[in-house]
Amino acid sequence: MPAEASSAVLAVEGLSKRFGGVVAVDDCSFEIERGSVVGIIGPNGSGKSTLFNLLTSVLRPDAGVVRYRGERIEGLPLYQIARQGIGRTYQSVKIFRDLSVWMNLEIAAMGRGRSDWEVPARQWLERFGLTHLVNDTSDTLSIGQQRLLELAMNLAMSPDLLLLDEPLAGVNPVVRDTIADAVAALRREGKTFLIIEHHMNFVMRLCDKIVVMDHGEKIAEGVPEAIRRDERVINALLGKGTTRA
Ligand SMILES: Nc1ncnc2c1ncn2[C@@H]1O[C@H](COP(=O)(O)OP(=O)(O)O)[C@@H](O)[C@H]1O
Ligand SMILES: [Mg+2]
Repeated sequence: MPAEASSAVLAVEGLSKRFGGVVAVDDCSFEIERGSVVGIIGPNGSGKSTLFNLLTSVLRPDAGVVRYRGERIEGLPLYQIARQGIGRTYQSVKIFRDLSVWMNLEIAAMGRGRSDWEVPARQWLERFGLTHLVNDTSDTLSIGQQRLLELAMNLAMSPDLLLLDEPLAGVNPVVRDTIADAVAALRREGKTFLIIEHHMNFVMRLCDKIVVMDHGEKIAEGVPEAIRRDERVINALLGKGTTRA
């Protein structure tokens, strides 16, 4: 199907990345429909974060094509990816720890060339319970608050597509619910998400589709109910201690 005829906001075709002898991402293809939440699960080391790095030009693919709204974006400079409306968070939170919460939001806005971010930034801080911390140095925040700040740094810029790399890692159940509620509300507004996460309850409840990776390969793709029953998926996840609770 030609890209123009597809309703996919993101289309990945034959994406591959090798580090020396390790094939971190191996001929990976899938599509993400506009307004959907797609989960990526798989054991540690299966290539999930590398896939995100390829989609956001932190790394250049060895092979493959990435189309965003029908246009090729693989290998574009990082800032251009962000300015086209693709946001992301990192498995280890990426904020400026020596700077205040508000300065982090300012820097995020500068990076994306935005001037209309202050009102939404304040709204997201309020919604995430961070307003009283706005002038605090970011390294005094808990891990959950840091994840919420990194999320607010993205959301204040109104991305169309948001990639979240293990947003629940190290966060308490209250923050977990805050993040799940935000994703659900934004999906209702038509935003699109790609989320790497080990918490199966979160993934099963929120995702329209799940992509499963193992050793760099996509081993399954489908609705949560089908993925839950897929023998190859069960073996890949059970073998390596992924959280199933
Ligand atoms: N920058 C890098 N240099 C060398 N090897 C890497 C690099 N990033 C990831 N890898 C390797 O690629 C594989 C996939 O890693 P990663 O994408 O982080 O997996 P996941 O996010 O699924 O845990 C692992 O074997 C990892 O050690
Ligand atoms: Mg990872």
